Amino acid sequence: MDSNPKKLRSQTWFDSLEYYSFARRAYIRSEGLSRQSFFGKPVIGICNSWSELNHCNIHLRTVAEAVKRGVWQAGGVPFEFPTISLGEVFMRPTTMLFRNLMAMDVEESIRANPLDGVVLLCGCDKTTPAQLMGAASADLPSIFVTGGPMLSGDYKGKKTGSGTDMRKIFDLYRTGQMTDEELCEFEGCAARSHGHCMVMGTASTMTSIAEALGMTLTGCASIPAPDSRRLAMAEMSGRRIVEMVREDLRPSQIMTREAFENAITVSMALGGSTNAVVHLTAIAGRLGIQLTLEDFHRISLKTPYLTNVKPSGDYLMEDFFYAGGLPALIRNILPLLHGHCPTVTGRTLAENTGDAPCYDANIIRSLDNPLNSEGGTFVLYGNLAPDGAVIKHTAASQHLLQHRGPAHVFTNHDQMLADLLRDDLPVDENTVLVLKNAGPHGGPGFPEWGQIPMPAKLLKRGIKDVVRISDSRMSGTSYGTVVLHISPESAIGGPLAIVETGDEIILDTKGRRIDVNLPEEEIARRLRNFVRPKPHYTRGYGKLFLDHVTQAHLGCDFDFLQP
Ligand code: FES
Repeated sequence: MDSNPKKLRSQTWFDSLEYYSFARRAYIRSEGLSRQSFFGKPVIGICNSWSELNHCNIHLRTVAEAVKRGVWQAGGVPFEFPTISLGEVFMRPTTMLFRNLMAMDVEESIRANPLDGVVLLCGCDKTTPAQLMGAASADLPSIFVTGGPMLSGDYKGKKTGSGTDMRKIFDLYRTGQMTDEELCEFEGCAARSHGHCMVMGTASTMTSIAEALGMTLTGCASIPAPDSRRLAMAEMSGRRIVEMVREDLRPSQIMTREAFENAITVSMALGGSTNAVVHLTAIAGRLGIQLTLEDFHRISLKTPYLTNVKPSGDYLMEDFFYAGGLPALIRNILPLLHGHCPTVTGRTLAENTGDAPCYDANIIRSLDNPLNSEGGTFVLYGNLAPDGAVIKHTAASQHLLQHRGPAHVFTNHDQMLADLLRDDLPVDENTVLVLKNAGPHGGPGFPEWGQIPMPAKLLKRGIKDVVRISDSRMSGTSYGTVVLHISPESAIGGPLAIVETGDEIILDTKGRRIDVNLPEEEIARRLRNFVRPKPHYTRGYGKLFLDHVTQAHLGCDFDFLQP
């Protein structure tokens, strides 16, 4: 990209003697702009993931209008453009299959167009990491405006969280403890405004991470989507991006290794989604920064979990915002952070948050009053996960974190869902549910199947959790004693592939291990007989994905997209 800060990159499109420079000026005026509106001004792209197939981002056209207001005020000229959007609950087989595709769309749309800077609008789970990956690779001055969480759900006078409480209530329905009418009523209360899921799921985690990395203005992530302050934040971001173009302040100067360590620390203190491990590794990889699972574990051990928000805590994102939001949390953990990291504000992280007020010390805890002395995500190894696996121990049942029990193996997701309804399924509270073929190749696309639903038979007995293990991911809104991201995955011959029903599984969270209790020779014998399943795709984007996706511990980016 253009490294001369004095000359606007867009001028090479609009201000030269070649024919197409004239043609571009002529054609852009077809949009009704006078020459004075755009000529010689910083051209700001507004990269919008709005889509009616992505309810979380449905308000981003309105947010874009506020950004434009700010851009005009500061002397720039805004142009909004779409990319593909990834609606978490609509896309099959999983949005994760398309995260890298969206990142490529974002990167190439930025690179190919006459832009000097970009404001990126995101919210739903994968849209934030995809845009961060694309912006990192394009490396033009960039600022993020996240869409904000929904208002709290409300059902029969009780606050409910999207995802987290929806799963709990649906379990009541599928075990006959709730009527069709009650479920229908809850449907209307569960997600009652625009915005992304309002628990500390993947969306809230990743938008908070965008802020912790220094890529948003201070306080952006926590403002509820319908709150008028979100539009004011968008307007301020529009003004600021014009200044950033003049300063030539780029993502590569902000998203340094230390900034990624800050992001991991914040994620741990939030009790953030396990998906952050995969996404942060991929975003950092775009900048040539290698994050390992050990980085996450090391930081988790020294970072207390402080944020009393579901699924690990009791409250919702709206409460978190009223308690002070992310700036208050960051201020509380500044001793654990690299406070000198630069941010898009032009000031350091510590300068942005050093005096942020906290209005509710029960929701945003201090370092000396944590909810847990360690962060939310632990990394496991063992003979089932030579390259690692993760567990969100803060959302697990404490009595199951050290456990051994017989495996009940599912090799097919659809069959699993049918079997879990059976009253004669041979499982009990000691069983370890095992799901294979759910990783990047096996799913395909690394779907969120890891929180294997509890067998109906056990729910009816009042058993709400058993150990579940897979090479899959799980939604950040989920909870339970769930081992995820087992790497290498079973579909390419990882050791998980050889587990059979009845084998003893040992989960030793303290010892950081997940093992099958079999002699090495028996594991080797079974691995020799492993037959790789047929690939899900033989053409098109799916084949590109299978040919180039990396494993979970490497971030699942495409190998050819790393620098
Ligand atoms: Fe978009 Fe939950 S469905 S964040």
